[in-house]
Amino acid sequence: MPSLNDIRSTFLGYFEKNGHRVVDSSPLVPRNDPTLMFTNSGMVQFKNLFTGIETRDYNRATTAQKCVRAGGKHNDLDNVGYTARHHTFFEMLGNFSFGDYFKDQAIPYAWELLTRDFGIPRDRLLVTIYHTDDEAAAIWKKVAGLPDERIIRIPTSDNFWQMGPTGPCGPCTEIFYDHGDHIWGGPPGSPDEDGDRFIEIWNLVFMQNEQFEDGSMRALDMQSIDTGMGLERIGALLQGKHDNYDTDLMRALIEASAHATSADPDGPGKVHHRVIADHLRSTSFLIADGVMPSNEGRGYVLRRIMRRAMRHAHMLGASDPVMHRLVPALVHEMGAAYPELGRAQALITETLRSEETRFRQTLDRGLRLLDDEVSRLPEGADLPGAAAFKLYDTYGFPLDLTQDALREQGRAVEIAGFDAAMAEQKAKARAAWSGSGEAADAAIWFNLAEQHGATEFLGYDTEEAEGQILALVIDGNPQDSAGEGTRVGIVVNQSPFYAESGGQVGDTGLILTETGAARVTDTRKIAGVFVHQAEVTRGQVQRGQGAQLSVDHARRGTIRANHSATHLLHEALRGVLGDHVAQRGSLNAPDRLRFDFSHNHAVSTADMARIEAEVNEFIRQNSPVETRIMTPEDARALGAQALFGEKYGDEVRVVSMGRRGNSGKGTDGQTYSIELCGGTHVARTGDIGAFALLGDSASSAGVRRIEALTGQAALDHLRSSDAQLSEIAGVLKAQAGDVVNRVRALADERKQLANEVAQLKRQLAMGGGAGGSEARDVGGIRFLGRRVEGVGGKELGALVDEMKSQLGSGAVLVLAEADGKATVAAGVTADLTARISAVALVQAATAALGGKGGGGRPDRAQGGAPSLADADRAIAEVEKLIGESA
Ligand code: SER
Repeated sequence: MPSLNDIRSTFLGYFEKNGHRVVDSSPLVPRNDPTLMFTNSGMVQFKNLFTGIETRDYNRATTAQKCVRAGGKHNDLDNVGYTARHHTFFEMLGNFSFGDYFKDQAIPYAWELLTRDFGIPRDRLLVTIYHTDDEAAAIWKKVAGLPDERIIRIPTSDNFWQMGPTGPCGPCTEIFYDHGDHIWGGPPGSPDEDGDRFIEIWNLVFMQNEQFEDGSMRALDMQSIDTGMGLERIGALLQGKHDNYDTDLMRALIEASAHATSADPDGPGKVHHRVIADHLRSTSFLIADGVMPSNEGRGYVLRRIMRRAMRHAHMLGASDPVMHRLVPALVHEMGAAYPELGRAQALITETLRSEETRFRQTLDRGLRLLDDEVSRLPEGADLPGAAAFKLYDTYGFPLDLTQDALREQGRAVEIAGFDAAMAEQKAKARAAWSGSGEAADAAIWFNLAEQHGATEFLGYDTEEAEGQILALVIDGNPQDSAGEGTRVGIVVNQSPFYAESGGQVGDTGLILTETGAARVTDTRKIAGVFVHQAEVTRGQVQRGQGAQLSVDHARRGTIRANHSATHLLHEALRGVLGDHVAQRGSLNAPDRLRFDFSHNHAVSTADMARIEAEVNEFIRQNSPVETRIMTPEDARALGAQALFGEKYGDEVRVVSMGRRGNSGKGTDGQTYSIELCGGTHVARTGDIGAFALLGDSASSAGVRRIEALTGQAALDHLRSSDAQLSEIAGVLKAQAGDVVNRVRALADERKQLANEVAQLKRQLAMGGGAGGSEARDVGGIRFLGRRVEGVGGKELGALVDEMKSQLGSGAVLVLAEADGKATVAAGVTADLTARISAVALVQAATAALGGKGGGGRPDRAQGGAPSLADADRAIAEVEKLIGESA
């Protein structure tokens, strides 16, 4: 009996032999389709090949595609567990032709594989076709020899396949298997078609049209093939089962659930095990593809599925969290075909465990409330919407969980009442917001948030994605389009652009639509709505258009490295400086990082070196950076660093990196850095490359600021410092290692030379030491008046004293000029100060020089002068004054 793994291989091998490229499954979060919540069929990753927008180096492909149908057009959630063939997660096997072969080849391939390779008896097979498709009917007749009554014409959309409201589409032919008349049911199109006897196993779509939002349809330029066969269905058939949940793979998961809960797999809890087995697959694969539980968008669908499974585990009487214990069984079954499952195993386990632990805290009370409410209802009556809302709002019961619980009793929820309660809560939130003093012009964003919900951020996993333009805001007003040269705020439903927050700057990049291009210069977040601040650079962009969003990859790369390095820096600071270090602010820009932290004095050079070395040690460790979602309490219990006074919601994103080793503080193997953080990070610490501290400065009282560089910028910085050092060494004609000693010696030498120069200048001013001989006798008082060049005001005091001591008794006057500044100084020896004051002499000289003032003591005074142009007159005036005093 072939296992599901065997069947998958046979399918891919068959088409590979027939010239098809085996292409990996694409992620469950579609990157190329903003209208889809999850990848729901094999053709999603090829959508643009059918429409001709994109070409690849192959025109035939085959895949086993992961699919989730739990929201939107194809939603199977409500039925899972209760039916034989509904799943939230399934694998779709498919073969594709992109303008290569068409119907006449696709039908024979399918027929040969089913009847020859899989050995399905021909007389068990029948097909449907779109009612007008005579061509398909003729091919079926020719290839399979099917009689008319086994080629059933269907006039409805059942045989016209559409992926969603827009996109490539076309008529299809479906292949059915007849399980035999022991099972009730009629062929497709008959009144009994809903029975379980005739089961659709393969859908071949003849892609030839494209559907647009306005309802119009165009014929595609080329005709293509898209087929889809659920692995679980064909598996059941080939394993001789009627129920997908009886296949080897699903059975192994059901057994694991039975083992973990000690509840009979086929007993009264059978439905619960089936729900758990299915939901284990969808939740694990979603987490592996980067979806995390949240209260918005895809994260909320994940949460709904998780909680639904958890209620079923609870119904089985499990007293502890169950789901995470089943992950090894899933990885064992599917890890070989989908290696991402093994890679994400720790994250999946942790996410399931923490969600289940948390949900269990309210599950019991919620279920009791539900029982209470129901016991008061008349037989068969629906649960009032208000009660369902309370379960949602207070106990974390998604609506479909309550519906699922009531279903077992044949009851439903009054949806209108639920919706009314939800609307009332939103109105209250709105009123609280408008009273909170936010700027009135923010109202537009709040309205958008209310209308469309928060923007879904895809940028943890991708830097390119498609989004749908929900609004264009120009100068605060919503517009339908924005033309070339316009500055516009672009709002999309989902975006890979990071909106500035937590110190990480907003992303920049490009937004392209069919009619134009816009350059995004910043991304901000207002009321949960991402505003891509852009300038239209070509054509025009229009509201409602699909848009290709590409983040500036290199810039984001350095921002990521800087942000992760900030976390390592934070921890290194705490290790080196002490636990009092707490984050006070940060900036993660593309060119540098900045970190403000509480600390009272400058960080010493030695500590800077230790901090830098520690960060680099953890970069070289190259350990993975891990992200988890948990309650703030759990995060604190883990030792996560959080911003003091910051408000956190009821769940937080926790980013961890680094393992402590022998050299670090703390226990070996402990996580090094754990922080609450919504930012984008490198995959492994090694991706940071290198780290260089620039320096530390005071930011405000008790807060220091450190700036640093990473990666190439860090290396460039070190290189340029080194180049400067080499240059200095070159100038000094020294080895780099000797530079410090040489500079020190030069500084000493310079000081000594400066002293000598001053000394020499004085001697020069003294006229070579023989100054005394040129003194004149003015009425019995010796007077020496001299003009000197190159002597500054600071040196004049010493010069005057020296001249005085040479005279022994007398008065001196010096008119000095240096660097364009004129100074006058006078001195009178102590024996004469009673008769002549140096101050008077200086004032007489400055007045003669066209200035004013000067001052000091009677034995020595000094003053500035506009110039020495009248030096002779100044000396004559002073001489005259001395003569008068003599
Ligand atoms: N797109 C089609 C389907 O999902 C065939 O792959 O059924």
